[in-house]
Amino acid sequence: MQSIQAVRGMNDILPDQVRWWQRVENKAREVLERFGYREIRTPVAEKLELFARSIGQSTDIVEKEMYAFQDRNGDMLALRPEATASIVRSYVQHGLQTDSAILKLYQIGPMFRHERPQKGRYRQFHQIDAEVFGTDSPMIDAEMMHMLSLLIEGVGISGIVLNINTLGCPQCRQAYRETLKDFLAAKGDEFCQDCMRRRETNPLRVFDCKVEKCQALLESAPMLIDYVCEDCRAHFDAVKDYLEKLGTRYAVNPRIVRGLDYYMRTTFEVISDRLGSQNAIGGGGRYNGLVRDLGGPDVAAIGFAIGMERLIMLLQQEQQDMERAPGIFIAGLGELPRQRAFLLVQQLRGRGLEAEMDYEGRSLKSQMRRAGKSGAGYVLILGEEELMGRQIQLRDMQAKTQMVLSLDDVVESMLRIASGAI
Ligand code: HAM
Repeated sequence: MQSIQAVRGMNDILPDQVRWWQRVENKAREVLERFGYREIRTPVAEKLELFARSIGQSTDIVEKEMYAFQDRNGDMLALRPEATASIVRSYVQHGLQTDSAILKLYQIGPMFRHERPQKGRYRQFHQIDAEVFGTDSPMIDAEMMHMLSLLIEGVGISGIVLNINTLGCPQCRQAYRETLKDFLAAKGDEFCQDCMRRRETNPLRVFDCKVEKCQALLESAPMLIDYVCEDCRAHFDAVKDYLEKLGTRYAVNPRIVRGLDYYMRTTFEVISDRLGSQNAIGGGGRYNGLVRDLGGPDVAAIGFAIGMERLIMLLQQEQQDMERAPGIFIAGLGELPRQRAFLLVQQLRGRGLEAEMDYEGRSLKSQMRRAGKSGAGYVLILGEEELMGRQIQLRDMQAKTQMVLSLDDVVESMLRIASGAI
């Protein structure tokens, strides 16, 4: 019978991969909590309207990539393509705003976009997402990008580039829109069908077009950064100044328009040149009007998301092998030693040590092979002879040395050894 395969673009994360994910998640949590972020967990499905209203009706995500469906009640729902809209919805729904303090939130989890799968681009992928509500201060823009760089470098990745840009505010963007429309109109029908349509509905979105011909035509397009108002320019200058003070390296890239409509002012992307065409590890920006547009108070906000698959891909390129915590494997030889090993493995686990045994009564050779494969740091060997003499052999798998321990206090000995006291 033919076996059932996973959905295209949706991947299993197998046990030997999971350690990388845990390492990235743990580091992310540690950094985010240190900067004052608290975790939030929102549902994977939301009302379709939430994403249409926030990300924008004429964006690629909403037009082409949503997992939208009607549920059994006839409600139109969608699997979340990103986390920001859901977090804002939750913020508004539960009245999370406070008068005095700003609120910093983070979420880690799967997102869904029906894109064409390729290396670094999947239909279910995972993001580490961070959002700050309640301040328009350029300090927080800089702090956020500083933290993003720290997080990526903290995981163990080097050679990344932080690209920043400003998209101005709705007022200065209005003036720019007209200039861009004129430019696009002058090019006549040289652009693709999609861009011709975008020219009328949402001209800025032409920058998202992946068609090479359109990208080439856009080389000479007027850039938004040259049209921003005084206030927006001052904000951007202050952000750059703080980044320099923090020692966070960046490059201004006027082409960062981001694929989502809610952005204004500061936008940014972290790029690596070792990822091929899907080179953005993360991106984000300010979205001051979104909370209000979704029915909440008029609070300023900014955020970013990191793509975990891409981050882990880079990490694996840089570090071939990941060190494993030294586990203990107990090889029991013969029926009575195996019974004793069964109790011992539970005692070691009970004291917080990672321990495993062979339940099947295999030969020493095959048990040692299994211990080696499992990556255990230590093997405890218990035979009939050792059991009678109340002893147990300890083999250090790394140092390839062996010594004899007393069986009566082997748990205490192993605790001392695992903590590095011996
Ligand atoms: P985004 O740029 O659409 O922004 O996604 C952020 C990151 O998610 C990308 O840089 C990439 O690493 C990863 N990513 C996106 N799509 C895929 C995919 N199909 N497969 C694998 N990885 C992918 C956002 O989602 C915004 N919500 C970020 C944000 C938060 N802005 C403000 N707050």
